[in-house]
Amino acid sequence: MARIKSVKVSLSHGELEISSIQPGEAKDVLEFLETITGETDYLIREPGELNLSEKEQKEFIENQLKEERSIFIGARVNDQLAGTLSFSSPPHQRYSHRGSFGMAVSRRFWNYGIGSHLVRAMIKWAESKGIEKISLEVDAENHRAIKLYRKFGFELEGILKRSKKMLSGEYRDELIMARIFPGKGE
Ligand SMILES: CC(C)(COP(=O)(O)OP(=O)(O)OC[C@H]1O[C@@H](n2cnc3c(N)ncnc32)[C@H](O)[C@@H]1OP(=O)(O)O)[C@@H](O)C(=O)NCCC(=O)NCCS
Repeated sequence: MARIKSVKVSLSHGELEISSIQPGEAKDVLEFLETITGETDYLIREPGELNLSEKEQKEFIENQLKEERSIFIGARVNDQLAGTLSFSSPPHQRYSHRGSFGMAVSRRFWNYGIGSHLVRAMIKWAESKGIEKISLEVDAENHRAIKLYRKFGFELEGILKRSKKMLSGEYRDELIMARIFPGKGE
């Protein structure tokens, strides 16, 4: 069963708690994801593309809690969901040493360190599970996210040219970044 140990930190906005998301939070998660999709074009979906029922969201959360090498964690400010991070590993044995993640923080909470707390909690959990490589894909123009990932040791592995096509017709490249845990697999 994969869940992280809850962490509490005092922020200027109030009390921040980072912990595994529970099935009872499915509705809050759906509302959060729909809101954040309308706040930024750095995520994979256009607004309205989520198409997940509360029941399906609840099942996703339950599965993430059951999976040994997956986590779905939330950042709550004064008990309100302000950010999420989802990490999963491929099912195949040869890929079981690695995994990838996606994350988002509500726009009004950007630059208060919440994203850093989410990434820190994920890395700590991944180390405890013996995961050796964490990967991600990020819009090449998403400088805030790239800065955050570099701070935690993620390095550029490649560029996916014209990976996204926006509704405006504009193309965006995406970067593949990864953090390889030191001293493992050598
Ligand atoms: C990317 C995201 C998760 C970061 O969350 P956050 O809570 O704002 O992150 P933090 O406050 O911990 O860190 C942000 C860092 O970016 C830096 N930063 C802010 N604006 C920046 C900019 N325009 N260019 C470069 N760096 C910038 C901050 O100084 C901070 O770095 P520091 O810790 O060294 O001071 C959040 O902005 C977000 O959800 N964005 C929309 C969705 C998204 O992009 N998700 C990631 C998809 S890969």
